[in-house]
Amino acid sequence: MQERHHLDRAQQPASIDDMEPEAFRAYAHEVVDWIADYLTNVESYPVLAHTAPGDIRRALPAQAPAQPESMGSVLEDFERVIMPGITHWNVPGFMAYFANTASGPGILGEMLTGALNVNAMLWRTSPAATELEQVTLDWLRQMLGLPDPLFGVINDTASSGVLYALAAAREALPLHIRQNGMAGRADMPRLRFYASREAHSSVEKAGIVLGVGQAGLRKIDVDDQFRMDAGLLEQAIREDIAEGWQPFAVVATVGTTSTTSIDPVPEIADICERYGLWLHVDGAYGGSAAVDPSMQWVLTGCERADSIILNPHKWLFTPMDCSIFYTRKPDVVKAAFSLVPEYLRNTESAGDEVPNLMDYGTSLGRRFRSLKLWMILRYFGQEGMAARIHQHIRLAQLFAQWVDDSPSFERMAPSPFSTVCFRAHPRGLDDEAQLEALNERIMNHTNESGRFFLSHTKLHDQFTMRVAIGNLRTSEQHMRALWDDLQAMLAAETNNK
Ligand SMILES: Cc1ncc(COP(=O)(O)O)c(C=O)c1O
Repeated sequence: MQERHHLDRAQQPASIDDMEPEAFRAYAHEVVDWIADYLTNVESYPVLAHTAPGDIRRALPAQAPAQPESMGSVLEDFERVIMPGITHWNVPGFMAYFANTASGPGILGEMLTGALNVNAMLWRTSPAATELEQVTLDWLRQMLGLPDPLFGVINDTASSGVLYALAAAREALPLHIRQNGMAGRADMPRLRFYASREAHSSVEKAGIVLGVGQAGLRKIDVDDQFRMDAGLLEQAIREDIAEGWQPFAVVATVGTTSTTSIDPVPEIADICERYGLWLHVDGAYGGSAAVDPSMQWVLTGCERADSIILNPHKWLFTPMDCSIFYTRKPDVVKAAFSLVPEYLRNTESAGDEVPNLMDYGTSLGRRFRSLKLWMILRYFGQEGMAARIHQHIRLAQLFAQWVDDSPSFERMAPSPFSTVCFRAHPRGLDDEAQLEALNERIMNHTNESGRFFLSHTKLHDQFTMRVAIGNLRTSEQHMRALWDDLQAMLAAETNNK
């Protein structure tokens, strides 16, 4: 990017203005051109940064800048110093963790959000931000096939959302914990909640933050398809009640992190109803698939959940961050979190017409995240989003089929979404330590190639590679190239013996 000193009078030491509007316009055009070029040529970047720990930090001055610098030189350093340390989630070969996409309309939404810079803490601090969030989340609810009424707010992450869900579940107990806390109370039973062994670590973290401790989460074993065993869940609840625990919530997952398994939500909902427990569904990854009507079955039973999360920043083409928290019990969530000091008092939310979004979590300040999601929903429409989700699932099915048809690879779990768990398992090699070393080498070589990035997990204690498709640029050609590379690497490994 070029220097534009002459436009940048506001960076003169004497000035206390913001950047000059004309300088802003020029730099903004430059930055937008840069973004368009970057996205066009993204495959020329290595997916994983080739930097050693500390390289980027050492390349930056330790001393804070005392004098103004031109934006031109800042942008130059962005390219020279920062870019080499970027892991390129936009490269179509990025298939690690849960791959995602910052789509064009989403990036445009982020730009406008930055420019407007509203804080959507109260309705009055930007009525459009509050009301657009309500409308957009209701549109998405319709697209997902979830019944009305369902109240939604947008948080930064699913990790925040599960914390809020469990705080609401705790609030629903007749123990006045909000008022009196839990410590040192003779009348306080030990609280327990439940999730499968495959649930995301954020569930356990929420228990730590809420003061129920890691012991307060009982992890339920899974069946041979990595789904929570509902029979064992009920047995655990009964045992705990008999031992004096107070069960208060169950977290079911639609699309677990390692294998994308789907817990049996209808059976879990029955159990929650029988024992009066809050049912939270973590659909951070898998929930988004339901925008494709042929995938709406994945949310079966979720209409009975007290709260549900899904992350458009995982699989709905939305730039980080955007995590949706839906609840059928907004009053309970509000009872857990609403605290209005004089300086935030207002009259508008006295009626039911408009909420103050600060009342539904710990954050006061809130970004205008619904703008980008609204632009994405409109730009692609449900049909466009469904077609893209469908394509990702098709590519995963194709890859899974190649694995299944190969005598030298094996699938490690069912693939209901766009993620495939697999490993190399050549005939005659059955030593688990050797298989782990072999698969780790194959994955590391794949990742060193710069074209692909895979991550791993362990299933039944066996090292497992994961291919997760969530990038709009990933095509069948990329899948074929990855498969060819994996086969070639295995062949090279076998020949080296
Ligand atoms: C199933 C599931 N739940 C929750 C999370 C946490 O998401 P976030 O990064 O939004 O906190 C993840 C992250 O991968 C996940 O896979």
